Amino acid sequence: MFQDSTRCIVIVGAQWGDEGKGKITDVLAEQATLVARYQGGANAGHTVLVGEEEFILHLIPSGALYPSVRCVLGNGVVVDPWTLIDEVEKLEARGIGIRERLLISWRAHLVLPYHRMLDGARENLRGTGRIGTTKRGIGPAYRDKVARAGVRVCDLADLAGCRELIEDGCSAANMLLERWESEERAEPDAILERLSEVSPTILALAGDSGDAIRAELDGDGRVLLEGAQGSLLDVDHGTYPYVTSSNTTAGAAAAGVGIGPTRIDGVLGVVKAYTTRVGNGPLPTELEGEEAERLRRLGAEFGATTGRPRRPGWYDAVVVGHAAAVNGLTALAVTKLDVLDSFDELRLGVAYELDGRRSDRFPDRAPDLARVRPVYETTPGWGVETAGCRSWEELPGAARDYLARIERIARVPIRYVSVGSARDQIVRVPIPRVA
Ligand code: IMP
Repeated sequence: MFQDSTRCIVIVGAQWGDEGKGKITDVLAEQATLVARYQGGANAGHTVLVGEEEFILHLIPSGALYPSVRCVLGNGVVVDPWTLIDEVEKLEARGIGIRERLLISWRAHLVLPYHRMLDGARENLRGTGRIGTTKRGIGPAYRDKVARAGVRVCDLADLAGCRELIEDGCSAANMLLERWESEERAEPDAILERLSEVSPTILALAGDSGDAIRAELDGDGRVLLEGAQGSLLDVDHGTYPYVTSSNTTAGAAAAGVGIGPTRIDGVLGVVKAYTTRVGNGPLPTELEGEEAERLRRLGAEFGATTGRPRRPGWYDAVVVGHAAAVNGLTALAVTKLDVLDSFDELRLGVAYELDGRRSDRFPDRAPDLARVRPVYETTPGWGVETAGCRSWEELPGAARDYLARIERIARVPIRYVSVGSARDQIVRVPIPRVA
């Protein structure tokens, strides 16, 4: 993807998260000098396999596994300082030094213990109407940010000055926790004490994410802006209210690190060769029973953060079309193609029927999306292993047809096809390609 004229690329999930962004970021990071996260927090779980070793990263960008890549957490990320330090230490324990090349934006908001408590208590209370959040405190932390009641990384330099904010945060949280029948209570002194333990470490890593990225681009650096979750979990463009609490789409990347949108040269959308969703909310092409079990087993579809089983479904071109539009995708990476190797037949959702009318437009209301009936095209499977393929020509004909159909409907060229979790299990698709 990187070229002389393409030096700043956004990577976004074009479905409901878990598309394999970690693996694709890791592949591209080989040519990058800096990788930055621009939104979300430790709700993400990006899995990268290096040799036999598996790494699951929640906050640190997936480029971290290349020793020369600088890693940045932008101002749009919500940072749980204890989770971050734990992740840094775990990487160091496995021989990956990250401290000297990690930068956390001064302006990033902190996820505090009462955010986690509120997230958990609210989810437990919601009963059947629950969102199915990761309970990492993400929603409450963003709510405080927007309500101008958040604590930021830069505030750690003056903890005494944060006391009132944290006392207010605790008393507001405790009222809700009581009402929501939770036994947990937030304690300002305990939080301030715990913050004083981690603040020197966090402050030593803090700086201006925008300055760092602009300097990289003003030189001859190459930058990846790594989205978390997926486009359909975007708070504006996703299946509201069954979404996360940030803008996950590419438009948020510039604001989330502190650069102008004119610095971005391309947007790579990552899609699975089928669909999954974790948590609640409508999923039109969802499979049930044995077929769902089979896809879940073959794709090892269990959440990297919570271990929850993911809900599998056929590829949904309406979803990806929506993601292509709202992100302005310039290229696609299709992951987990190998998971479909043994299927005799594949189904591809190409449109929806709602109240007797066919449409390829993604509905704005979750209740409407829950009522649509997908219109499917059926295509033959390829029945051979693709895990060893390393070029477009090596892929079986039926797999190439399937991919070409995905590409035609999305009107976005495919640049990468992932055929396994290892770093080298990747097909780089040239443009233009021969067949
Ligand atoms: P939250 O982000 O923890 O508030 O969860 C809101 C919704 O986003 C829930 O449906 C979660 O399952 C989903 N979600 C959050 N992070 C991820 C992710 O990294 N992958 C997939 N789904 C996610």
